[in-house]
Amino acid sequence: MVQLTLPKNSKIRKGKTWNSPGANAKDWKRFEVYRWDPTTGHNPSMDTYWVNLKECGPMVLDAIIKIKNEIDPTLAFRRSCREGICGSCAMNIDGTNTLACTKPIKEISSTVKIYPLPHMSVSKDLIPDLSHFFAQHRSIEPWLQTDSPPPETEWLQSRDDRAVLDGLYECILCACCTTSCPSYWWNGARFLGPASLLQARRWIADSRDERTGERLDNLEDPFRLYRCHTILNCAQVCPKGLNPGEAIAELKKLMVERQL
Ligand code: SF4
Ligand code: SF4
Ligand code: FES
Repeated sequence: MVQLTLPKNSKIRKGKTWNSPGANAKDWKRFEVYRWDPTTGHNPSMDTYWVNLKECGPMVLDAIIKIKNEIDPTLAFRRSCREGICGSCAMNIDGTNTLACTKPIKEISSTVKIYPLPHMSVSKDLIPDLSHFFAQHRSIEPWLQTDSPPPETEWLQSRDDRAVLDGLYECILCACCTTSCPSYWWNGARFLGPASLLQARRWIADSRDERTGERLDNLEDPFRLYRCHTILNCAQVCPKGLNPGEAIAELKKLMVERQL
């Protein structure tokens, strides 16, 4: 049997317990949060915080903000809109990638365990380095490209053509799907992953875009597209209810059809 040894600095230590529940402990919830500060040279740890739910908003992000404001100002995380729109608060909560701002605390019966999005380099605490993810998104050229002369007003679409984009355009680039994809974990340097491929599909599906051939050429590669094995973890975690796996299957079908 193969025995694997984790690199020493990847082992997670037991961390600090920052506070304890007050007198009415039944209203308090225990949170265990991944901590790592690259400047210390220490291994990551799981720190423990207790939050009085009677004095906290309903979502996991509310608790994280309360922890930062009232218990531990050194905790680092991203957030902006607090409405499930910006995609910045994506993290792994209770074993699943999701948005902290739309994840109700009451859906988690025991301790709330929070990690950064998996299989990414960590910049600090709950902040993954998304540079490569966004470079891959840019590589599919996610903007309208045409050869026809521009119209005098805007590029118009019929209602039916516009409806084709439903289920494709709503992506908020949170990276929940890409970081839950086993194929991306092992081939992320070259496989584009579900989020970028969903957007590749979105621009090919756009009735106004005139670069379908070039866009498909850009995906014709053993890794960029074909590492998807339709496991559908991506669809299971998407907080916007999108199905990148299906969009990837449509791209593969277009690849076949253009050979016929
Ligand atoms: S369907 Fe494809 S992209 Fe989605 S999780 Fe599975 S392998 Fe990854
Ligand atoms: S497809 Fe869904 S999970 Fe993936 S980046 Fe877009 S919104 Fe996030
Ligand atoms: S803070 Fe914007 S999606 Fe959560």
